[in-house]
Amino acid sequence: MVATSLALAPESKGRPWVLVIPFCFPGETVRVKVHRHERMHSLCDLLEVVEPNLEVRDENLVKCKYFRTCGGCQSQMVPYTTQLKFKRDVVINAYKKYSKLPDSEVPEILSTIGSPLQYGYRTKITPHFQLKSDGTPGDPFCIGFNDVSRPRECPIATPVLNETLPISRKKIHDTLSTFKKGSTLLLRESLNTDVPLPLSLSLTPDELADAMNTKICITNNNSSVRERVDNTFFEFNGGSFFQNNNSILPTFTQYIREAIFPPGIVSKPTHLIDTYCGAGLFAITLAPYFDVVSGIELSADSIMYAKRNARLNNIPSTKCSFRKGDAANIFDVVKEFPPEHTAVVIDPPRKGTDMNFINQLVGFLPQTVVYVSCNVHTQARDIGLLLRAVEFDSRGKKYVLESLRGFDLFPQTSHVESVAVLRLYNKEG
Ligand SMILES: C[S@@+](CC[C@H](N)C(=O)[O-])C[C@H]1O[C@@H](n2cnc3c(N)ncnc32)[C@H](O)[C@@H]1O
Repeated sequence: MVATSLALAPESKGRPWVLVIPFCFPGETVRVKVHRHERMHSLCDLLEVVEPNLEVRDENLVKCKYFRTCGGCQSQMVPYTTQLKFKRDVVINAYKKYSKLPDSEVPEILSTIGSPLQYGYRTKITPHFQLKSDGTPGDPFCIGFNDVSRPRECPIATPVLNETLPISRKKIHDTLSTFKKGSTLLLRESLNTDVPLPLSLSLTPDELADAMNTKICITNNNSSVRERVDNTFFEFNGGSFFQNNNSILPTFTQYIREAIFPPGIVSKPTHLIDTYCGAGLFAITLAPYFDVVSGIELSADSIMYAKRNARLNNIPSTKCSFRKGDAANIFDVVKEFPPEHTAVVIDPPRKGTDMNFINQLVGFLPQTVVYVSCNVHTQARDIGLLLRAVEFDSRGKKYVLESLRGFDLFPQTSHVESVAVLRLYNKEG
């Protein structure tokens, strides 16, 4: 993890003992306080950096006065290019440790693609507060990320969220007696949802600019949120999943398109399956490049919005369809798709996909697989399982893991989004 160091402490009962220390780097001398012993390691608080590693630490870069107490970010003191290098290392190590693939089957990890915005990018924050067991606020009363802090601003959040945060905090203070235990606030950036979609040609230039650029903040989990990715519009429920860094989404979706259609590809995919599709981000941005698109997702709300998003972007339901269900079930309904001309996008939650899904995918055997993941460790595990499952299949095919690359959807934090591209080949050359 970025800005968390694993230090080997003096041996304990004959074994080397690992100390997990936040906000510090290899090569530093630090003073720590151990606060918990686990089976294989101890967790520590950092008290003091006695000798910093100045190759990776520049305290002048820290922009947030709540950094270190809030817990939302871990690496504001690290120059951005170094953050990107660290995230590449996370991908390298995850594949070494969890894919169980020989080195020869893992390509050189490409450099991490940075976010256009490194601060002011985060379009959703969810500060929590907790009342004491007798229902009274603690002293100090904290409405914040980790409750040791009381952020009144969050430099990684977008400007409209920062404008709304003090108003939301005041509302909680004014209505505190209506809460029994505590609550989680939602602040989510949205375009102005009053302007109807699809945008009509009759809008005046001012109305058009308003529709494209005016940002509002949604605080209700059940309100519609609207975002634009290039010239594609998306709506979704305030409380449901959508990627939280809009600034990188055009680059991100374009990368996935270019991975599916690399220069010089002879046999172009014509059919797309978007599994774990949410409100249709990949299905809808990629739809213009395919004849037929099918998406599947567990959340009924997200599927309702995915269908609506196809309509809002003038994509007919004959071309692009969505259904609610477990991702593995999609292979029952795409039997007419030609596997040799089909690309499958997989974008599961942090726990990754499952063996049922992998078995169904192997049964279908699409030409191209793009696996997008917010947890590179489960991605590495799943890619290893998939490659081995096809290796032992009797149809003489194998997937080649063509490329692996991190995307920095969350600058200043330890999170990395990883994109793995696989293509099917005959085993005999
Ligand atoms: C990381 S999000 C990706 C959503 C979408 N691809 C996007 O980028 O906006 C993962 C999605 O998988 C959905 N999900 C979780 N388990 C699932 C399952 N077993 N089958 C289908 N969808 C599932 C979640 O509801 C969530 O919307």
